[in-house]
Amino acid sequence: MTKRITKDDLRSRKWFMNPDNLEMTALYLERYLNYGLTREELQSGKPIIGIAQTGSDLSPCNRHHIELTKRVRDGIIAAGGTCIEIPVHPIQETGKRPTASLDRNLAYLSLVETLFGYPLDGVVLNIGCDKTTPALLMAAATVNIPAVALSVGPMLNGWWKGERAGSGTVIWKAREQLAAGDIDTDEFMEIAAASAPSVGYCNTMGTATTMNSLAEALGMQLPGSAAIPAPYRERGQISYETGKRIVDMVWEDMRPTDVMTREAFENAIVINSAIGGSTNAPIHLNAIARHLGVPLDNDDWQKHGHDIPLLVNMQPAGKYLGEDYQQAGGVPAVVGELIAGGLLPHPDAVTVNGQTMGANCETRRSKNQDVIKTTSDPMKEQAGFLNLSGNLFESAIMKTSVISPAFRKTYLSNPDDPDAFEGRAVVFDGPEDFHHRIDDPAEKITENCVLFMRGAGPKGYPGAAEVVNMRPPSYLIKQGVEALPCIGDGRQSGTSGSPSILNASPEAADGGGLALLRTGDTVRIDLGKGTADMLVPLEELNERARELVANGGYDMPVSQTPWQELFREKVGRLDQGMTLQGADQYKDIARTFMPRDNH
Ligand code: FES
Ligand code: MG
Repeated sequence: MTKRITKDDLRSRKWFMNPDNLEMTALYLERYLNYGLTREELQSGKPIIGIAQTGSDLSPCNRHHIELTKRVRDGIIAAGGTCIEIPVHPIQETGKRPTASLDRNLAYLSLVETLFGYPLDGVVLNIGCDKTTPALLMAAATVNIPAVALSVGPMLNGWWKGERAGSGTVIWKAREQLAAGDIDTDEFMEIAAASAPSVGYCNTMGTATTMNSLAEALGMQLPGSAAIPAPYRERGQISYETGKRIVDMVWEDMRPTDVMTREAFENAIVINSAIGGSTNAPIHLNAIARHLGVPLDNDDWQKHGHDIPLLVNMQPAGKYLGEDYQQAGGVPAVVGELIAGGLLPHPDAVTVNGQTMGANCETRRSKNQDVIKTTSDPMKEQAGFLNLSGNLFESAIMKTSVISPAFRKTYLSNPDDPDAFEGRAVVFDGPEDFHHRIDDPAEKITENCVLFMRGAGPKGYPGAAEVVNMRPPSYLIKQGVEALPCIGDGRQSGTSGSPSILNASPEAADGGGLALLRTGDTVRIDLGKGTADMLVPLEELNERARELVANGGYDMPVSQTPWQELFREKVGRLDQGMTLQGADQYKDIARTFMPRDNH
């Protein structure tokens, strides 16, 4: 370790040992003594490390962090630091209504205030469930004090009737079986419970495993930290190592801006393709980058990510689950295979252990080539996202790696036009409208239809809900139709394998073209050209736009809480990360400002 600062440079000294203002030092000190901390722990020059605690009874995915934090504390103390645990606003993907993503920016805001306004020299970010990872990385990006992320780890593999039952994925499948009458509701509940056999987060390559892998890919976790299942002993051990490391990072003055560079984001985009990462990843990484001042948009995702092969054989795109991913080598093995194939753009990117990504991973290889493939024998050749645009929206993401052979045969088999399809639009305004109408024969939904979901974006829902992946009508499922093309201004669960076109921006509720679409219109999607259009004459579209304005604009449900109202006023577009507009002006604030004394 190269020490770059001395104890007099510690931020916490301005609270607990400020020679210019001893009266305030006494006031700051006394209340932190009242539960048993000593003056030695607060005043002798030990770095004070926050542990941003996202685990609670309300947040089962991250609840195991309460246990792991004991090992983090041991590590911090062993390295000569003092720990202060910080409560973080809960974000439970499966529990919060109307959608957990409404709370990502709220948790971000409150953690920024906490990290900035209290005597903290560094922070351990307890990441895990979907939005907890971006919320905490966004806050660390804005405040820019030394920070290391610690994943809580996935659940053990789920099993149902001798087959792997993966979080979310098995539920989307069982939902179709229920609609077809193949299972009853009790069996549906049993299948769902079987997929959640232990503490930890989703064991599929959903948004959680994606974002935890990308936190490691960005260099913000210790190497090998992302994939260890929550109950494994290695999870406790790496928690201890993470606690030790953050203390050294404070002395080295290693900050989020030193790690999460443009190069690190390009690495992360490539690694996201190789793992078959969630379509939520561009939203969250674009948001983190914005708070750092690193330029990043959906064109970067297509440019750097589209041609990268899929290496990880995990549900929903493949077969395996979290334990298999760990046993095959996790993120370091994926990165090692990419380096061996010459596909990692920036092996020199620095990570939180002080070494480069290349030094950490170049000798690592897959330990099970059925789970983590090599670049010469991948699952799929091009696993990244396409960034589509047209008169329906300016930007929307499609994960091409989950296009099934059956889908390709139905929609992409015209030899003269192999990348394009046309269909009749069926438009739903929110999931309630969908559930109400999908099975109604009067809608005349056939295999030539494209299902649209609107009113599901950041302002419209509010919060941008995961409601775009829609099942076909039950009468089509019974005929063997597994999926119809789905397009929308909301998101899709990372555990869903639907080949949907998602995150359409701007959304219908924010002036997007989707608001002008009507059921019965013909739409044309060309994956080769990257376009998505409604084939409606311009005059007609202008007339519809006038009508929409005359009717007071696209109809949205009322805000039900003060935060929903504030969120709607301030939130930006999904393709730009759904951040709070204006928040990205505040950068590197811990080095720029010291907050005023409070008395
Ligand atoms: Fe929390 Fe999937 S629901 S990680
Ligand atoms: Mg979800």
